[in-house]
Amino acid sequence: MNASGCKCTTQKELEELNSEDCSANIVITKSCTLSSRTGNTVDEFGKNTKWFSEIPHGTINSNGLCNLGIDFYIEYGLTRNKHNKQYYISVAGTSLSEKITILRRIVNNPGCCDLVELNFSCPNIKQEDFLPEWVVIDEGLKKIEDVFPNLKYGVKLPPLFNKYQWRSMANVLNNKRNIMYVSCCNSIPNGYFPSDNGGVIEPRGGFGGIGGLYLKPISLANVKVYNKLLHPKIIIYGCGGVKTPEDVMDFKKCGAAGVQIGSWLMEEGSVADKFNYISDNTLKG
Ligand code: DHB
Repeated sequence: MNASGCKCTTQKELEELNSEDCSANIVITKSCTLSSRTGNTVDEFGKNTKWFSEIPHGTINSNGLCNLGIDFYIEYGLTRNKHNKQYYISVAGTSLSEKITILRRIVNNPGCCDLVELNFSCPNIKQEDFLPEWVVIDEGLKKIEDVFPNLKYGVKLPPLFNKYQWRSMANVLNNKRNIMYVSCCNSIPNGYFPSDNGGVIEPRGGFGGIGGLYLKPISLANVKVYNKLLHPKIIIYGCGGVKTPEDVMDFKKCGAAGVQIGSWLMEEGSVADKFNYISDNTLKG
């Protein structure tokens, strides 16, 4: 599947992923909010900004949750031609209560998606709480399971870096009833890469989420550790720097059941060709 945020915001982008000619078996949307947002993609004068850039071994972005709003992604899910593919809606919102409101709309539109992916770790909007990620995720998932006892979901995890953090997160996830999968990992927050005048991206002083090859060994470590720590019913998807069949194999060796492709989709070239290249050259199983 694609990684949420990469070529999955507009109808045209979703149609390309969802097309019969593209071997992606799951299509996931851009992380959405209740209403549509331009995020960091336009400045205060309405001029388009450079919010994404390739850098030597990966990418940096500060998109700021530019998306078409939950109603669009529900409508797309209800009207798309299924082509035997699953459709997941990535839910962000800018607060827990906004997440709940978005989820209520999803629940009230049965069949609009196969699963939701909950994103608690958008690094490019104003962060108002400074609690450890597993505390935020624990509070969020408890509340969501309370309000929607039958809603199954996946969670996009932030990259974590040591045993204490991994154990704390695994403990939180193992205690949830309705979790189906985790995706490891979201981008590394607040990287910077200089250009001749400031950073290579414009919003937030040039600071943004890092993806691509920089992320790969970090994601592999997260996958490997969670493969040991998480309850086996929780599927693990690898996400970080996938561009070749060898990358997919590396994630599988660490225990991933599948992968999400992110930064690579942002490069020049057809999304379908990229998925087809990977699936034609990767052994199943
Ligand atoms: C954005 C970036 C992320 O890494 C994420 O998980 C969600 C949103 C963004 O900038 O829009």
